[in-house]
Amino acid sequence: MLNGERKIARPLRWAMVGGGRTANVGYKHRQGAMRDNTAFQLVAGAFDIDAARGKDFGTNLGVDPDRCYPDYQTMFREEAKRPDGIEVVTVATPNSTHYEITKAALNAGLHVICEKPLFFEVAQGEEIKALAEARNKIVGVTYGFSGSQLMLQMREMVANGDLGEIRMVELQYTHGFNATDVGDKISEGQKWRVDPKIAGPSFVLGDLSTHTFYMSELICPQLKVRQVLCDRQSFIPSRAPLEDNAYVLIRYENGAVGRLWASSVNAGCMNGHRIRIIGSKASIEFSDHQPNELLYEVQGQPIQKMIRAMPYLYDACNADERLGALHAEGLIESWANIYLKFAIAIDAKNRGDEATLKNLVYPDIDAGIEGIRWVQNCVKSANAGGVWVDFN
Ligand code: NAI
Repeated sequence: MLNGERKIARPLRWAMVGGGRTANVGYKHRQGAMRDNTAFQLVAGAFDIDAARGKDFGTNLGVDPDRCYPDYQTMFREEAKRPDGIEVVTVATPNSTHYEITKAALNAGLHVICEKPLFFEVAQGEEIKALAEARNKIVGVTYGFSGSQLMLQMREMVANGDLGEIRMVELQYTHGFNATDVGDKISEGQKWRVDPKIAGPSFVLGDLSTHTFYMSELICPQLKVRQVLCDRQSFIPSRAPLEDNAYVLIRYENGAVGRLWASSVNAGCMNGHRIRIIGSKASIEFSDHQPNELLYEVQGQPIQKMIRAMPYLYDACNADERLGALHAEGLIESWANIYLKFAIAIDAKNRGDEATLKNLVYPDIDAGIEGIRWVQNCVKSANAGGVWVDFN
């Protein structure tokens, strides 16, 4: 069980690019990174595309005004001159900027934690992976939902054969908040999501399904995607060619099959993030409406509801427990677990501790690259008229 005690020798000196006052996701990064107060310390930032607003915001967060920079280039240059300069930076800006900021950060000698979708092309991911290796740095990806310890319970149950042979993988991440185009016109965070120059080759596939796809890989690491067939729609025509709804069929190399539904036009749906893994003996299901529970359904037996923090869960699951049974938890806990693992990875990298890195389960650069590969192949399939394409 986690109780906030330090896991690394001292907190890492941390900065953010983006995540400013108006940002959707910035606060989640700060809450996740600093939940334990022993892993990350926010000491600098280029928080906003609007430099004055960013400085005011950073100062209000308690960051030294001299270390609230007008842009990331200035921050990387000036921080490199300080003996107590930043060691790691989070990139929480719109998608089109991730690649150049990550590259600049690595070249400035920094570890990087970057938002999803990581980049637009697998080749960019491979290039950055090689650069990170050459610089001996970690690149982590904030698939923020994946840190929930119940994901590790599902992973252990699959690995231990509790479900039998895995046959089907059912994935859904949908909401209805873009059922009309109102937000496309007025929301800072929504306008760019439907602009291919900034969002990249997809809207909901990149924005939503990269999370769920990674979680399926985390739970079922033995399943390798062989082919995907994607059909995508722009129900709000002005969003074309970007989709606001997508259905993807998946064929795995071992004969298992899967299905993913990503949508931001599922009208009335507040948040539908659901993962169901079906084996030859039993199924498990997670829905973030009930983030404290896992359904375990053994064929021919009464349905069981497994509850977070209980001793019957696997040790790997309870090792990431923060509150104990009786207390409900949710997304911030998941983020905090992800951030803690980024810190442990960075610390291990700094110390050349390959054994720790090898055993650490977290969304690393490969997970980011797989997210890009996923989007690329789905888009390729959809654009070819919804045909099976080899997953490569
Ligand atoms: P947003 O548009 O709400 O906020 C972007 C922030 O970055 C703003 O503060 C803006 O001023 C700043 N910014 C933009 N360009 C910048 C630059 N060049 N330098 C410094 N700051 C800059 O966007 P949102 O929704 O916060 O998304 C940001 C990223 O996070 C996207 O890649 C998105 O896909 C991802 N995201 C991830 C989530 C998750 O659960 N992991 C949830 C929401 C978004």
